[in-house]
Amino acid sequence: MAQIVGGLATSHVPSIGIAIDRGDTQNDYWKPLFDGYLPARRWLRDIRPDLAVVIYNDHGLEVFLDKVPTFGIGTAPLYPSGDEGWGPRPLPPVPGDPASSWALVDSLVEDEFDVAMFQELQVDHGFTVPMTLLWDWQPDWPVKTVPVLVNTIQYPFPTARRCHRLGRALRRAIDRLPDDLRVVVVGTGGMSHQLQGERAGFMNPAFDRMFLDKLGPAPEELTRISRETYIREAGSEGAELIMWLVMRGAMDAAVREVHRHYHISASLTAAGLVCYENAGG
Ligand code: DHB
Ligand code: FE
Repeated sequence: MAQIVGGLATSHVPSIGIAIDRGDTQNDYWKPLFDGYLPARRWLRDIRPDLAVVIYNDHGLEVFLDKVPTFGIGTAPLYPSGDEGWGPRPLPPVPGDPASSWALVDSLVEDEFDVAMFQELQVDHGFTVPMTLLWDWQPDWPVKTVPVLVNTIQYPFPTARRCHRLGRALRRAIDRLPDDLRVVVVGTGGMSHQLQGERAGFMNPAFDRMFLDKLGPAPEELTRISRETYIREAGSEGAELIMWLVMRGAMDAAVREVHRHYHISASLTAAGLVCYENAGG
């Protein structure tokens, strides 16, 4: 039987990946951000997950505006880093776990979440930046992954409540996995940021802190916030925070927060990180 050993959520800004690949993580600009990830990396080494279920949004690499599934699951054996315009990242392809992926798809569809199936999938910064922030990949990635795709790009994207319910369904699916896996659930995206239009550069630390304070003890309150309010308060791209609620839905009703970090800014984004362990219910 699989077991969830942790849940975490983190931002996924592309320039973080570039800083890692160029060895710039210790300069004055980046050190405060990367220092905030050290306790999370140590915690992951302690809880030793075999499988990471990574909830992220594709930003136009594989899912273009002409065909946009609301939810999807990668079922591939390997997920190579794609070229988002500045070349593919120099990473070994991230290993998948097709058996677990298909088992999750089966269970989700049974549970009335009709996910698109991605049998081939190149991954963008939404996936690779969290992976490279959290784990070392030399000589090999220490975890296998199941990517879970959520549309946060093309309106209408799913509601916060629907995302939380997807998390509940993912939990039932993970609990049914036949293999003895230690699973970590990773939500990505956010926190507040807007990359376009008159409000480009918009960030909202008050909203982010409220979100971080409620996500552990009172996620239902965050599920009642409308999509329009997420965009107004967190920015058009800050609405990616709905993917943190997928992770939260997969955890117990009660969680213990083991680490939190918040940093303004990484590029145009208020960067956040939170780690939870299950605490029952
Ligand atoms: C940035 C943030 C994102 O979430 C993203 O997808 C692309 C760029 C940024 O702050 O630069
Ligand atoms: Fe993004």
